Parts: sequence; structure tokens; C-alpha cells
Amino acid sequence: MSPFTFAANLSDLSEGQLFATRVDDVPVALTMIAGRVHAVGDVCTHDDGPLAEGELDGLCVVCPRHGARFDLLSGKGTFPAAGPIPIYETRIEGDAVLIRL
Ligand code: FES
Repeated sequence: MSPFTFAANLSDLSEGQLFATRVDDVPVALTMIAGRVHAVGDVCTHDDGPLAEGELDGLCVVCPRHGARFDLLSGKGTFPAAGPIPIYETRIEGDAVLIRL
């Protein structure tokens, strides 16, 4: 199992906002909803849209390009997504947001 890796400072995140980062060169979208940090892949499975530039709708992120919706808990996407996005386990240590790729 891979180790937890630094992804962002907790102070970089705002409730209900998306934040793009890279962890070990993997594009990752972070967000905080109801005080809980979520980390998912930042690349839409339809045509590589940048999900962190999209909108949040409840516990879904909506792709800014053609509107596929991805569940932040399961990674599952709606049409026209070609499959789920990865979801990553998160851990908070002080001001550090760590994720496990
Ligand atoms: S690239 Fe995301 S829906 Fe098309």
C-alpha cells in the first residue's frame, strides 16, 4: 500500500471550493465539504477535462467541459464520462493535507 503524501496545506482549502494540485505528478482535485476533505483525480474520463475548474453540486463535481458529474465518495461518473475517476484516502496532520495515491 502506498504511503500518505503531502498534497496541500489545509489553509489552501476553502469550504465548497475546488483546489487543483499534483501529487507525485498525478493531477488531484481537493475540496472540503462540511469540514471533510475529499481528494479525487483531476482528469475527466470523457475527454480529460480539468475537474477542479468545474463546479460542485452537493457531493458531486461537475466537469466544466461537457457536464459529466462525478460522485466524490465513489468516483462514479454520469454520461458522457467513460468511467469513474480515482478517489484518494485523505489524512490531516496539523496544516498538512496528506493523500494516499
Ligand atoms: S471532458 Fe468532461 S464531460 Fe467531456
